[in-house]
Amino acid sequence: MNKISQLISLLGGTGAVAEKLKIQPSAISNWKKVNKVPNNKHQAVLELSSQLNVNIENFLPTKNFVNFKLKILLIISGGIASYKSLEIIRLIKKTDIELDVVMTKSAQKFISPLLVTSLNEKKCYVDLFSVEDETKMNHINLARSPDIILVAPATANLMAKLANGLADDLASTILLASFSKIILAPSMNPVMWNNLATRENYKKLLDRGIEFIEPDTGDMACGENGTGRFPDPNSIFELILSNIKENQILSNQFKDISILITAGPTIEAIDPIRFVSNNSSGKQGFEIASELTKRGAKVTLISGPVSIPFPNCENIIQVKTAQEMLDSVSQQLPSDILICSAAVADWKLIPKTKSNNKIDTNTKIKKTNEKLLFETLKNPDILETISKSNLRPKIVIGFSAETDNLKKNAYSKLISKNVDLIVANDVSNGKVFGADYNKVCLVEKNNFEQWEIQSKKSVAFNLVNKINDLLTNYNQRDIYAK
Ligand code: C5P
Repeated sequence: MNKISQLISLLGGTGAVAEKLKIQPSAISNWKKVNKVPNNKHQAVLELSSQLNVNIENFLPTKNFVNFKLKILLIISGGIASYKSLEIIRLIKKTDIELDVVMTKSAQKFISPLLVTSLNEKKCYVDLFSVEDETKMNHINLARSPDIILVAPATANLMAKLANGLADDLASTILLASFSKIILAPSMNPVMWNNLATRENYKKLLDRGIEFIEPDTGDMACGENGTGRFPDPNSIFELILSNIKENQILSNQFKDISILITAGPTIEAIDPIRFVSNNSSGKQGFEIASELTKRGAKVTLISGPVSIPFPNCENIIQVKTAQEMLDSVSQQLPSDILICSAAVADWKLIPKTKSNNKIDTNTKIKKTNEKLLFETLKNPDILETISKSNLRPKIVIGFSAETDNLKKNAYSKLISKNVDLIVANDVSNGKVFGADYNKVCLVEKNNFEQWEIQSKKSVAFNLVNKINDLLTNYNQRDIYAK
């Protein structure tokens, strides 16, 4: 009797297993014939065996399966703890997670790429300028394909390089070119860990959304005592697994939900050279687009002219004027959610002479001693137009930058523009535009929340949680209405 036949009989026989797994008995007979359980049925067999309390370790690899194909890139940098990353490789290899490994030059002083290659049964990448590697798996592929990049151990040097955007080897280049979730597990001498430079780098990286597995405190290999010890590889592995599970849930939260986001300023030309615009970097809107994309939403970002890099999202449309922005939003409807974070220029300025004559704006307006006047022409209000149209998305969110009476002004916008939520901030100190931090309050019809000052990334994360609540409430209302 082959192994799979023994396994099936331990689990109650062909008929019972087929019934429990809701598949045809002939499929089970086939497994027995070829002595193999297909990969997509491993998890079900494992679950059945644990329900029946049957130990199947000798019959089926008891891998820790995750629900979707997942790729981890492990970067090993050079420290005394480098060898402990070998245990992490061994633990990951017990799962069905796809693993690639990159080593820095100094890591290779502690462990050899050959050892890593034989453990991972796969080439270990070490070189940024390898002709052979670049043709097969170039550094951009290595940076883009993983879901998680785990740097373990992460040295003070690697943290400093990442914090300052250095890309002088394969590991640092990948980290800079990646959209993936990055998790660092630092390990270093306690004095290095507490050094102001490392503290500042740590804070910078945290603010950019990089996650940390904090080092342990205790006796160090160097003989000193303090914080900086590499955590137990098992606990790192467990943290990564729980992170993956959390991610699996979050990455499907907005599955099949379409979201339109306006961001950045719009500009209105006065003549071929001059224009009028609003103060806005686009950072907050871009962070929201990026967070919603991570949670599985189909995001269309409609952006005015900005000087920051575009986020990773399904569709990006670049516009200049308020009218172009309105047209683009309208063309993208219907959509489940609309988030208007753009600072839309409220007026077009039409230049006139003192005697109220129009000036030719097809060519550059010449500087003369005659007084130049401007007539204002109101731009369409995108938020209000869409939220009062018959294609109004289920949830409409507006932003409100105020210099005074924040709560009152935001509330009156909430009502007059017919929106579900206004994210308001006080810009009277001029510190919000272009900054990485934001202090916002949320205004709803029956709710007001003042949020702590936090990074725009963190505002985006919390706002997306709020949007999820709004959508859940909307869907429930919808069910009760039916
Ligand atoms: O009235 P106010 O400009 O302060 O309203 C701000 C909100 O309205 C923001 O959500 C902004 O994106 C939106 N808005 C718009 N079209 C305009 C002006 C503002 O969509 N022309």
